Amino acid sequence: MSDVSRPSPAGVRTAAVIPAAGRGVRLGPGAPKALRALGGTPMLIHAVRAMAASNHVSLVIVVAPPDGAAEVKSLLDAHALPDRTDFLVVPGGATRQESVRLGLDALPLGYGVVLVHDAARPLVPVDTVDGVIEAVRAGAPAVVPALPLADTVKEVVPADTPGDPEPVVATPERARLRAVQTPQGFDRETLVRAHDTVTGEVTDDASMIERLGLTVVVVPGHEEAFKVTRPLDLVLAEAVLTRRRLNDGF
Ligand code: C5P
Repeated sequence: MSDVSRPSPAGVRTAAVIPAAGRGVRLGPGAPKALRALGGTPMLIHAVRAMAASNHVSLVIVVAPPDGAAEVKSLLDAHALPDRTDFLVVPGGATRQESVRLGLDALPLGYGVVLVHDAARPLVPVDTVDGVIEAVRAGAPAVVPALPLADTVKEVVPADTPGDPEPVVATPERARLRAVQTPQGFDRETLVRAHDTVTGEVTDDASMIERLGLTVVVVPGHEEAFKVTRPLDLVLAEAVLTRRRLNDGF
């Protein structure tokens, strides 16, 4: 568990980059996913508060939809956020990777640890965030929160037409698999180097570090750090928020 009362030593100040520029088409038509409301508050605000909830995080950089930076800035201004945290909004790019890169470009000097957190994971608990930061501070260049899988996973030859039968190629041993979440934590220089040198599409930032040949470590994730992707995830997120409110009331 983290010692949140300890001030950050020089050079290991921590910033969080939140890519929030995706359209979120799998949730159905409507506003960009990060701006959808959960419990009456935009998902992005939940995600920003989840990062700012860590006493170690002193800057949050939000990467907005390319044409939506002003709207996102007003949104942050309109919601209560901790005074001890600084906030920046920058326009994003066409891919998640590009959006993260644009967030990193806006990172001031003096931040040695960077978290990258999906706006689409609004409910990650602060202990998970602190666990990731602690592991980076302890010397890991890249840290990923993750959970064991409930489902067995099959590798298939993807069908050309969705819904067609797909031949199974392999069944990886489930006990060795982990489903990874965010925030993923990085030594800043390593992450910038990865963005400078690794080409090709990736689905998370840690895989870019793997491609550099460096070791990525996994720490325990949390079931409430799930990604809001499909309509059912919205139902689950509302239920988690309701339970938190009830618990806070007692
Ligand atoms: O699409 P996916 O769910 O993997 O997106 C993960 C995160 O990346 C989301 O928070 C989304 O807003 C962000 N993203 C982005 N820029 C893009 C595409 C996705 O910031 N061009």
